[in-house]
Amino acid sequence: NENAIASPVGITLDRYIKRKQSEFPFASGELSQLLRDIALAGKIINREVNRAGLIDITGAFGNQNVQGEQQQKLDVVANIRFIRALKNGGEACAIISEETDEVILTGNEHGKYVVAIDPLDGSSNIDVNVSIGTIFSIYRRASPIGEAPIMEDFLQGGRKQVAAGYILYGSSTMMVYTTGHGVVGFTYENSLGEFFLSHPDLKIPKQGSIFSCNEGYWYQYAECVRLYLDQCKRQGYSGRYIGSLVADFHRNLLKGGIYLYPALPTQPEGKLRLLYECYPLAFLAEQAGGRAINGSQAILDVIPTSLHQRSPLFIGSDAMVKEMERQYLMEN
Ligand code: AHG
Ligand code: MN
Ligand code: MN
Ligand code: MN
Repeated sequence: NENAIASPVGITLDRYIKRKQSEFPFASGELSQLLRDIALAGKIINREVNRAGLIDITGAFGNQNVQGEQQQKLDVVANIRFIRALKNGGEACAIISEETDEVILTGNEHGKYVVAIDPLDGSSNIDVNVSIGTIFSIYRRASPIGEAPIMEDFLQGGRKQVAAGYILYGSSTMMVYTTGHGVVGFTYENSLGEFFLSHPDLKIPKQGSIFSCNEGYWYQYAECVRLYLDQCKRQGYSGRYIGSLVADFHRNLLKGGIYLYPALPTQPEGKLRLLYECYPLAFLAEQAGGRAINGSQAILDVIPTSLHQRSPLFIGSDAMVKEMERQYLMEN
């Protein structure tokens, strides 16, 4: 109706975070500040993404990252922007990133938190104007405050995340996150430079009718994966694959569906990275009433052993992931 179109946009991310903060009187507010720093980094990256075609930051950077992928210029730009925002913010004492081999020390040894990021997700879609994203995962550090952070701060396990989320640079830019009390989504208003609350309580439908995977790998998929996908097709489900995990996950979160990136003979642990792709999205999925597994185990229970570790991922609507799990367990 006309009213809905004319109605003002409402509560900003800043105000929302502040309001939530006042509900936890004993919390120091540092996590709130960290979320605001991340939103700021998101705005900066959003600006770069929007004008990438105009300022010669599309295309390859000419380097490989630690996983042997060709870095795109925007991967590098987003990484720098994000690290800078977190360094300036002061709440994070260390960062790990897809684009940096080792733990990044921010110099803020009194910061209570560590952050794992995929600065730019969906690299292959940058140059073709298709949705891309940023994924983040936050832990309270395990090492003593005031001392140098250590690798173990990042290897606490998915259930220890205190917050996680993503920024989606899509037909509109959104920030979606959880602090373990459900999932909230904010939409960016370009002309005002603010995120506004648009999705106060995101829940993923228990059952969906979308499957998302790279079907080009069909002949490399395990039998159980092919059986499950076959079942989806017999039911007339839609295949939807953007090729940016954040965007595929976001669509399925809103509409219901399953995203699959299984192990392949050429990539026995799959492609996606546990700490800054699988864990944060699994945290969001569970908080939204969905499920995320590596085949036999909940993603959040997978024990981390290294910073850039990979994991197979099946994530989305509860009933769909459970059916995939059933097929998996029959075969394994
Ligand atoms: P990134 O761009 O951060 O390296 O992540 C790429 C990931 C993910 O975004 C996407 O879903 C997947 O790679 C696509 O892989 P395929 O091209 O093998 O389907
Ligand atoms: Mn990459
Ligand atoms: Mn990624
Ligand atoms: Mn990336």
